[in-house]
Amino acid sequence: MAKPASAIAKNWDALCNWVDTRLPVSSFWRDHLSGYYAPKNFNFWYFFGSLALLVLVNQIVTGIFLTMHYKPSAEEAFASVEYIMRDVDWGWLIRYMHSTGASAFFIVIYLHMFRGLMYGSYRKPRELIWTFGMLIYLLLMAEAFMGYVLPWGQMSYWGAQVIISLFGAIPKIGEPLTEWIRGDYFIADATLNRFFALHVIALPLALLGLVVLHLAALHQVGSNNPDGIEIKQNKGADGVPVDGIPFHPYYTVKDIFGVAMFLLLFAFVIFYAPELGGLFLEHDNFVPANVLATPEHIKPVWYFTPFYAILRAVPDKLFGVILMGLAIAALFLLPWLDRSRVKSIRYKGWASKLLLAVFAVAFVRLGMLGMGEGTIAQTLESRFWTFVYFAYFVLLWFISKYEKTKPVPERVTH
Ligand code: HEM
Repeated sequence: MAKPASAIAKNWDALCNWVDTRLPVSSFWRDHLSGYYAPKNFNFWYFFGSLALLVLVNQIVTGIFLTMHYKPSAEEAFASVEYIMRDVDWGWLIRYMHSTGASAFFIVIYLHMFRGLMYGSYRKPRELIWTFGMLIYLLLMAEAFMGYVLPWGQMSYWGAQVIISLFGAIPKIGEPLTEWIRGDYFIADATLNRFFALHVIALPLALLGLVVLHLAALHQVGSNNPDGIEIKQNKGADGVPVDGIPFHPYYTVKDIFGVAMFLLLFAFVIFYAPELGGLFLEHDNFVPANVLATPEHIKPVWYFTPFYAILRAVPDKLFGVILMGLAIAALFLLPWLDRSRVKSIRYKGWASKLLLAVFAVAFVRLGMLGMGEGTIAQTLESRFWTFVYFAYFVLLWFISKYEKTKPVPERVTH
């Protein structure tokens, strides 16, 4: 005879209690979800944190399945990827989910970062959230670069050649350093093997660790919001922020909507345009690596091209590498460069709004130029936008301090 519902509920409660006295499951749920108060005015821009988590999980799960069939050797890598695409059951889907996932990751992260710039989410007390985010971004670039080498196509090989040779520009230690990275005198089997090890285990572990720190720092201070108001500073008699709502169920449900929209777009690309015209998977990478034939135009995947354009804008290799490094380093400094009295762009003056808009245009335009062939006209234009890119950080320091801001309301707005 079936047990009555009340008996099942009783047993379930007993089991939960048993676990709870041994593992802090309910207190974790309460502290970080049902009792975590987030500002009630989150908008569209607040989808991208949870979407980044989703894409991270997608990359790890599809990556595990790819690893079951991939062969990390210069002799077999290319053929093993073809085998995955043609012979492994659902292999094509797993591979396209992983390759499209890489580009989706960067789209999501760039929008997530742009939200931070708009609403001043990097400002005190969230400097560490931003710093961990920037470290994630750096690791993500390393992870994507190494992943791109694994199929051992033409662009894998020659892209790696270009990027690793950048280290050769460092005076004195450059040459031995590149040799150390490659593990050989040229990009070879040893390089592929170590990139595989780093790509499948070392970097994902480090990434996961940083994501935990990123979220721990976020939950320590609480989320910012489009108004840039600290909701913890205005609590009701019950000790709950008056402008806060529990993350669960309100934002879990809202995020599920964001996930559904994202999956629609993601599935569309996977099923109808997995290479996206050579943007997500470059055409040259469908040709096996050939040491004797350099592709006509070597360029990285789209998410690296803004920095690649900055590198190419400078005739001197060492100076180009330094400038490219500075372009990334400057982003780390944002929490201390922005000295405005207000956090959100909503209450800053027109100069800040224009500055941020022009910075976004410069980044996108540099990305487009980095995909080009590097003609003289493109190089000259890259120099202009490189100048604009760096001007953002300098002008931010001054404008944020001296511009007239609007009064920030007491309560969040809708
Ligand atoms: C694997 C990559 C990442 C994951 C999984 C991730 C996850 C999240 C999540 C879930 C949130 C809370 C929800 C939200 O505010 O959207 C968040 C907030 C935040 N993230 Fe990330 N993030 C990642 C990368 C980054 C990067 C690269 C940056 C910047 C360099 C960054 C900067 C921030 C900031 C400043 C906040 C606080 C936003 C606010 O309170 O307004 N994150 N992140």
